[in-house]
Amino acid sequence: MLNRRNFLTAAVGVAATAGLAACAKEDGSSSNTSSGGSKTITLGFSQVGSESGWRTANTDSVKSAAKEAGYKLQFSDAQQKQENQISAIRSFIAQKVDVIAFSPVVVTGWDAVLKEAQSAKIPVVLTDRSVESDESLFVALVGSDFTDEGRRAAKILEKVLQKAGHKGKVKIAQLEGTTGAAPAIERAKGFKEVMDAEHKDDWEIVVSQTGDFTRAGGKQVMAAFLQSNPDIDVLFAHNDDMGLGAIQAIEAAGKKPGKDILIVTVDGVKDGFIAMSEGKINAIVECNPLLGPQLMEVVKTVHEGGKVERWIKTKESDFMQDQAKDALPTRKY
Ligand code: AHR
Repeated sequence: MLNRRNFLTAAVGVAATAGLAACAKEDGSSSNTSSGGSKTITLGFSQVGSESGWRTANTDSVKSAAKEAGYKLQFSDAQQKQENQISAIRSFIAQKVDVIAFSPVVVTGWDAVLKEAQSAKIPVVLTDRSVESDESLFVALVGSDFTDEGRRAAKILEKVLQKAGHKGKVKIAQLEGTTGAAPAIERAKGFKEVMDAEHKDDWEIVVSQTGDFTRAGGKQVMAAFLQSNPDIDVLFAHNDDMGLGAIQAIEAAGKKPGKDILIVTVDGVKDGFIAMSEGKINAIVECNPLLGPQLMEVVKTVHEGGKVERWIKTKESDFMQDQAKDALPTRKY
């Protein structure tokens, strides 16, 4: 996965890969013309699935930005299965697309297929999520800093607890995203980092399990949490959808979400903001899904053999419950 320490090393890899793209044009093995050519760019994009409101907004953003840029988009939905993504990437290679972009379901297991893309001289851009692979196998990542989102969730929880007047020990339930996915690993890591550094004596994660980033998963796992740990004070859900499912389970157990159990989630989709304006979520750490326009810029630069930043991040904010009503009408997703 990308981190600040390997950023510079990675930049060298970018130049090398961009060189590869240019080389592809020179030796005629790519279907398109080189820099400034008139042919349409063909982009193969493999999406994770449609597990959440965030994902729907991300898919819409990619599709509309590709249309706006005038690219031919080969879109494939992996239905949250890595084997589907690997097949889609192989099919993009066979079709000789100009650039491949994908949002990896999980972080491991990509080296073989990425090497195939490299051998075919097709540059690969990661979007949304990173991988644990040889970094020369992809050009750039367009996406959020999930570790920082985890840290931000812990910091905003401090404010939530203070506002609620909570004193003493804090028992936390964590709803994790898809096992092995970058946002699940890194959000948990960032949250724990702050917890270990600043709340070793007063905060404890008493239960933590995956809800697979879905509403149904969040509901089911939260119901089980409440059975085993009826005295949970806080829920940290790795995305809004799991938080929204958990709210249903909390209400079904006769408790008040946002009061009896304080809730912090990540994403900031409209449904999350609606629940927050109703007092059922206490704070949201935003994760911006509108990555399409930045992705298309990177695709163009890479296709033309230019240099791109190794990690292109988007601007994000944090929201407390008292900001929800004002922010709701301006939410774009
Ligand atoms: O990778 C981004 C995460 O994936 C979002 O937080 C979540 O909602 C989605 O499914």
